[in-house]
Amino acid sequence: MCGIIGYIGDQQALPILSAGLSNLEYRGYDSAGVALSGPELSVYKKSGEVSALQGILPESADHRQGIGHTRWSTHGPPTDANAHPHTDESGRVAVVHNGIIENYDTLREELSDVSFSSDTDTEVIPHLIAAGLDAGAEPREAIEAALDRLEGTYALVVTIAGVDELYATRQDSPLVVGHGDDGTFIASDVTAFLEHTRDVTYIEDGDFAVIDDGGLSLFRDGDQIETTIERLEYEADAAEKSGYDHYMLKEIHEQPRALRQTISGRIDVETARAAIDVDLPDEYLDSIEEIQIVACGTSNYAGQYAAELFESAADVRTTVEVASEYEFDGGRDPWRTLVVAVTQSGETADTLSAIRRAKRAGARTLAVTNTLGSTIVRETDDSVFIRAGPEIGVAATKTFASQVATLTLLAVYIGRTRGTLAYDRAEALLTSLRQLPSAIQSVLDREDEIKTVAYEYADSEAFFFIGRKLGCPVALEGALKLKEISYDHAEGFPAGELKHGPLALVTEQTPILALLTEGTKPRETLNNVKEVEARGAPVVGVTSEADGIDKSSYLDVELPIPETGELEPLVANVYWQLFAYHVADKKGRPIDRPRNLAKSVTVE
Ligand code: F6R
Repeated sequence: MCGIIGYIGDQQALPILSAGLSNLEYRGYDSAGVALSGPELSVYKKSGEVSALQGILPESADHRQGIGHTRWSTHGPPTDANAHPHTDESGRVAVVHNGIIENYDTLREELSDVSFSSDTDTEVIPHLIAAGLDAGAEPREAIEAALDRLEGTYALVVTIAGVDELYATRQDSPLVVGHGDDGTFIASDVTAFLEHTRDVTYIEDGDFAVIDDGGLSLFRDGDQIETTIERLEYEADAAEKSGYDHYMLKEIHEQPRALRQTISGRIDVETARAAIDVDLPDEYLDSIEEIQIVACGTSNYAGQYAAELFESAADVRTTVEVASEYEFDGGRDPWRTLVVAVTQSGETADTLSAIRRAKRAGARTLAVTNTLGSTIVRETDDSVFIRAGPEIGVAATKTFASQVATLTLLAVYIGRTRGTLAYDRAEALLTSLRQLPSAIQSVLDREDEIKTVAYEYADSEAFFFIGRKLGCPVALEGALKLKEISYDHAEGFPAGELKHGPLALVTEQTPILALLTEGTKPRETLNNVKEVEARGAPVVGVTSEADGIDKSSYLDVELPIPETGELEPLVANVYWQLFAYHVADKKGRPIDRPRNLAKSVTVE
């Protein structure tokens, strides 16, 4: 969703802000803007792509300080006027804002003598700050007084004409400061400035940051606090396309490496245990009665995959809920319910609010995430990192694989601790995990084949993905990937459900993409394949040899995977990712930034 970049230092601010906005494009947005700060402010704003804004920016500008923003509309359409930065009437104060000011209506009414130039909630902020300055307050005082009036969520960066400082603060929306050799950066996420520095400070809720030539000063409750600098371990090319046409394709191909990182040092082969650095005491794990997984979209499907494993390996009742629908029901002793938030970004508002609900009710909370320092990490009792590396494409790909792998480790960890998971099955699961990178590589090596299949069926009326058991979340994920990037009608079903309704939709124009691997009850699914075949639908099936069943005579296209035990459906998923990618690519869709979608969904 919205993105923020700010800079102050020795370099020209304009190219840094402009490149920062390009780096933030992956988050999803519909307008962009920049304010350059000197004795006066120069503000440029444009609806549409960052390239449209870049078309109206001057070739060069001497300013050493400025802020920029990519906006994803909430209050008011994506027009030039509604783009950020927003300024006060005199053009002295400029503000960029992520989040929602809930009481903006009231504040707008109070500011009745001000003439507003946008429909946004954000615009009240520069007017409030300007009112404080007019009343004689110092910049920091004026901003703090304005903050006292705001209700809602925000990450804010403020620049004021003639003042050589940037001011920033946050409430439920991330902000991170980057410490470079030639200046200091502030952004909603590190990808905005990763090419300049990997030394960062995460701003906490309520903290007030002042950034000047000397770097960052942080204040909490009025007192200056120490600044902690962390070094990010991202590789230099992590946020680059590295020769691929799209980030999504690059990230699909990164899966073997991402999975190696995910499992590295976390498997003890001899004892068949998982070594996860997590604070879940043995006596607590022995006492838990239920695991509730809360997540959205792809992360929810990763949770559904894991739920099957938690129940069978850890012998704990496990439910998976769409975070936006979640209500906590933890029985008589809420602490005995472990609520696990699965989230790539760690910022998804629905998931955050589910976690808060669980905490308020007294449950223990755990985050499984890709994002260090994220809000959900800070708010949960503990967290496990999936270590997939930055994911820029809006469609989640490598993070799905790393989430399932991490949750599998967690299932083994909990199962072995509780004594519910026998050595042999634990060993089989861990072996399956270790085989994943090479099994997935073997699918990636067949990309040309799946591309041909994708091109053959790209113009179909609709696509139906089917699978049973562990194949069911993968069918749902396959359909989600295809619909979000190709805009085609795609649905996923538990294979046995086809005959209870969806079969009415099946025609020669609706390819069926079926999972027939271990962990998906292939024999039963084959019966469903026969049902659709009888109605003339083409069938593309992913198969493995494990079960010894001959499936090829029922399939129009057979896509093989190597034997990988219970994680075979996860390997098969890579075929569905490549299928979605190539269908979308054939149709010329903007694959990394599908319409209406955002990478990090920070509104409920
Ligand atoms: C789909 C996709 C979304 C996210 C969902 C949750 O490709 O990316 O469905 O999975 O918005 O996001 P996180 O995992 O960041 O909480």
